[in-house]
Amino acid sequence: MSRLNPTVLSYDSLPSTNSEAARLALAGAVEGLCIVADEQTAGRGRLGRQWLSPPGAGLYFSMLLRPSVGTDRWPLLTLMAAVAVHDTLREACDLETDIKWPNDLLVDGRKLCGILAESLETDQGRAVVIGIGLNLSASAFPVELRATAISLEEAAGKTPDRELILKTLLTSMAHYYDAFHSTGSRQIIDTWCRYSSFADGKKIRVSMDDEVIEGTARGLEGDGALRVETADGEIKIVRAGDVTAVRLNNEYK
Ligand code: BTN
Repeated sequence: MSRLNPTVLSYDSLPSTNSEAARLALAGAVEGLCIVADEQTAGRGRLGRQWLSPPGAGLYFSMLLRPSVGTDRWPLLTLMAAVAVHDTLREACDLETDIKWPNDLLVDGRKLCGILAESLETDQGRAVVIGIGLNLSASAFPVELRATAISLEEAAGKTPDRELILKTLLTSMAHYYDAFHSTGSRQIIDTWCRYSSFADGKKIRVSMDDEVIEGTARGLEGDGALRVETADGEIKIVRAGDVTAVRLNNEYK
């Protein structure tokens, strides 16, 4: 029996499923509440970006959590969601994905899914909303993004079954949420590192608020931060930023 008992509320259209989950969290909703919308009119991405969410083109999903572990471990929740989506796509769509730190799911280097975690203070204590945006068809994103974004339809070669994906995702989230509470950070981090080509040895560039660094990925810290070894051998710890693979001699290494 899992500690999470997901309940799904579905809507035709919402400004943002994350905002709706946060609103209900403030009204006292219990953890496991999930919000799904067919369309978002003000979908949000990481780093203040917009997440275009046209009707029927994507899975727009948010889950409310009230973790009972210290907030220092909460950054692992986005990694947890990424491994849960990874397993979901493998199981429901027979599709292998890569994970780019911290939590973009990629196919052939193109983005299929993004994850946005937002925490908030409520009368019942601190809570977090995990938002997941998965491109189901190519109409989920503008044509200009075709080189960098991909849909599940294209990646899996068939029309995705949204209901099956949602059901599998709920089971997968519940499984890893139990692991997050019972086995400490290790299982989430180890699984993330197994699934990600960005975890160790890859040449990467990280754009942060005030600097850009280049180096080699050297695994994750216990809280999910990325370790990057720069040319002078120093290990830098990255807690927020945008990662890209660096091209060497026309090859991605
Ligand atoms: C990213 O920038 O990669 C994160 C994108 C997260 C988008 C999802 S869609 C469902 C949920 N509601 C939102 O407004 N954003 C997240």
